[in-house]
Amino acid sequence: MSKLNQLNYEVMISEEEIGQILDTVAAKINQDYADVDNLLLVGLLKGSVVVMSDLARRLTGDVHFDFMTASSYHGGTESSGDVKIVMDLANSIRGRHVMLVEDIIDTGRTLSKVRELLLSREPASLKICTFLDKPSRRVVDVPVDYVGREIPDEFVIGYGLDYAESYRQLPYIAKVNPA
Ligand code: PRP
Repeated sequence: MSKLNQLNYEVMISEEEIGQILDTVAAKINQDYADVDNLLLVGLLKGSVVVMSDLARRLTGDVHFDFMTASSYHGGTESSGDVKIVMDLANSIRGRHVMLVEDIIDTGRTLSKVRELLLSREPASLKICTFLDKPSRRVVDVPVDYVGREIPDEFVIGYGLDYAESYRQLPYIAKVNPA
């Protein structure tokens, strides 16, 4: 990919490691939801698409998919507390067992707002799963049930994560070094 050559980056989590991380997370979810008839996976677009698709294929119970888009960035590098729902879920979650799937939690602002909104719709349960977590960046406390990997405060791309909308399709997580 020619655009990648313009970046100074190094692989932080390889494709193989990603698979191992997801195997571990999926095993826990399969155990915890063994008695649940159906689990609704809610992906926050766009970054969560890649991890949600790989995670879902490791789940042994019946799952449904839904998606929403929350916008919280307003030109800066940090999310603001002003989270807007750009695209809402297609279906009601009332009485459903729901799991929010994220690619990364940074300040926690996006997830906190989305969580409050979804809880107000009275699901039977609501849990949160994130592939990456940057706990050192947390501004708003949000309960996270399943974490793939905690990472330090580095700028990372790939596996759903973008840099100016590019690089989401990289099969690994890479750390971008300052130019
Ligand atoms: C990213 C990520 C989370 C959010 C985390 O999404 O997918 O939703 O930022 O940041 P926070 O914890 O500080 O709120 P982004 O808004 O970049 O959209 P994207 O998924 O389309 O890349």
